[in-house]
Amino acid sequence: MNAPAAAPADQSNAPAWVRHRRLRQWVSEVARLAKPDRVVWCDGSQSEYDRLCAELVAAGTFVRLSEKRRPNSYLARSHPTDVARMEDRTFICSAKKEDAGPTNNWIDPLQMRQTLNRLFDGCMRGRTMYVMPFSMGPIGSHIAQVGVEISDSAYVAVNMRLMTRMGRAVAEWLAEERDFVPCVHSVGAPLAPGQKDVPWPCNEKEKWIVHFPETREIWSYGSGYGGNALLGKKCLALRIASVMARDEGWLAEHMLILGMQAPSGEKTYIAAAFPSACGKTNLAMLIPPAALSSWKVTTIGEDIAWIKPGKDGRLHAINPESGLFGVAPGTSEQTNPNAMKMLESNVIFTNVAMTPDGDVWWEGMTEQPPARLIDWQGKEWTPQDGENGRLAAHANSRFTVAASQCPSMDPSWEDPVGVPISAFLFGGRRSSTIPLVVEAPTWEDGVYMAATLGSETTAAITGKLGVVRRDPMAMLAFCGYNMGDYFNHWLKMGHSVAQPPRIYRVNWFRRDANGKFIWPGFGENMRVLLWIAQRCLGRASGMETPLGIMPRFEDLLWTGLEKKISPAQYAELARVDSAAWKEELASHDELFGKLGERLPEALEARRGRMHEKLAA
Ligand code: GTP
Ligand code: SPV
Ligand code: MN
Repeated sequence: MNAPAAAPADQSNAPAWVRHRRLRQWVSEVARLAKPDRVVWCDGSQSEYDRLCAELVAAGTFVRLSEKRRPNSYLARSHPTDVARMEDRTFICSAKKEDAGPTNNWIDPLQMRQTLNRLFDGCMRGRTMYVMPFSMGPIGSHIAQVGVEISDSAYVAVNMRLMTRMGRAVAEWLAEERDFVPCVHSVGAPLAPGQKDVPWPCNEKEKWIVHFPETREIWSYGSGYGGNALLGKKCLALRIASVMARDEGWLAEHMLILGMQAPSGEKTYIAAAFPSACGKTNLAMLIPPAALSSWKVTTIGEDIAWIKPGKDGRLHAINPESGLFGVAPGTSEQTNPNAMKMLESNVIFTNVAMTPDGDVWWEGMTEQPPARLIDWQGKEWTPQDGENGRLAAHANSRFTVAASQCPSMDPSWEDPVGVPISAFLFGGRRSSTIPLVVEAPTWEDGVYMAATLGSETTAAITGKLGVVRRDPMAMLAFCGYNMGDYFNHWLKMGHSVAQPPRIYRVNWFRRDANGKFIWPGFGENMRVLLWIAQRCLGRASGMETPLGIMPRFEDLLWTGLEKKISPAQYAELARVDSAAWKEELASHDELFGKLGERLPEALEARRGRMHEKLAA
């Protein structure tokens, strides 16, 4: 018999507050593979954050903004090839291909592990490896989950501190053996001895965002941007969490959560799913128009909701994040005054433009652009460039900020038991066909509406405007398993509680014959939310249509609307065009057809029934 090999040296460099053997071991293993120059455990303190930011300034990754205009804030400019999530480089490596399903990229897990071993071997040379224990949700909440991210990017470390509860308190909660989701990230740009670093290291040739749903692991290589690198967000809180939720009977969704407080003090909570860049942040932070100011809107979350059945027979939601990574362009005093207030200080901006006096700017922030700017790539920019179609801020430029800075946060946004949800909304960008708001008569009808959610791609995505992409529940890029099974899980969840939320389809984006938005949107969306809240309280009426229940003109409150909506315009917003709906139903087949056997029969049956109703 061979003598047992000497235990490999502990390379984890873990401080005394890490008592978890398996965690130390795993960190040692990753260090042995990735070969960083040093390993640093993040304690999540303010002083650590300030030190890392100073290092990022010294490295040229961060520009410190004017202390007067934007105190304690920084601007990062990414590499021009690393500006967004990459759906085509995102993989769900379940043991069986069918379990990832036709809407996910799949690679055999054994083969994938070989690739990762090749990629990660020595990939952190010359760099620091940061170890970040983090909690998605209030530490210790029965709805929360813990992850530990290893990353060779200080930019990721400071962003994770804003986006999650990160550091020593989480490691202490993990104690000696609680479970965590291992998340490994590298920018994939090792440094040879003496080699000078670049401001935004990434791998221009290879990018991989990989999930192992069965073993609940995440590996990400080559990108430093957003959801590719901040692994608590889309990778853990949606792709891995959706698998946990399926197995354990809850929901992990791409949804904002907002509260509406009636003049009487009664509170209604709503969760709403919209695809990326379709208005979740704006809606979550909405300020009601003056005429409706006796109602108050509060924010619980603006991107992700984790929802569990409560003992009271209702579904309860938490926001697993503690920060916002929001779209900058389009944010202004007019569209989102709460966000402008939130962004006054302590912000990390990525890929926005900079003014000569050290402040930030993006398209839509002000009507007139400043006379001179430095664009998101660090080049001189004038309004003339804007007229020639060159953007000063990248279309997917974003801000990272602690949620506690948002003026509209709900007093219970960190309540570990969550808030009871009365309604689910599903919306996308649709210039025609989809009415302003429809209530599903039953849970099954609602799941059908959600499963067939579509949104028009923006020019940035396909180069072709107005193409409807099916994005079921706004989860196309985020569901970690077979979409057909996910639909089935949704159908079941409606029966898991005595009082399931009502389901609504909304569309702020319908256009008139001149291509103009008919609905004013933004704060005025309150008028639709109000009808929904009143419906949930049993106090608003509507009319039956083949699609479901819709408000009549007189069911919506119109007082104080600046640019009046005439009954004729409203009729256009609410119109159900049977020819267009025939096409719409036919197009649902593109997705349903792909799902084959795994498509729940109940949904296929709904489609048949919709055909009949529309024909009648
Ligand atoms: P992710 O963070 O990518 O998940 O997306 P999000 O849904 O939070 O994106 P966000 O709210 O930041 O969407 C911003 C875009 O939606 C901007 O282009 C806004 O102008 C537009 N938008 C938001 N609300 C409305 C609305 O009520 N009407 C119209 N017409 N546009 C809106
Ligand atoms: C989205 O794309 O839906 C986002 C931004 O919320 S990211 O975190 O980069 O995925
Ligand atoms: Mn999102």
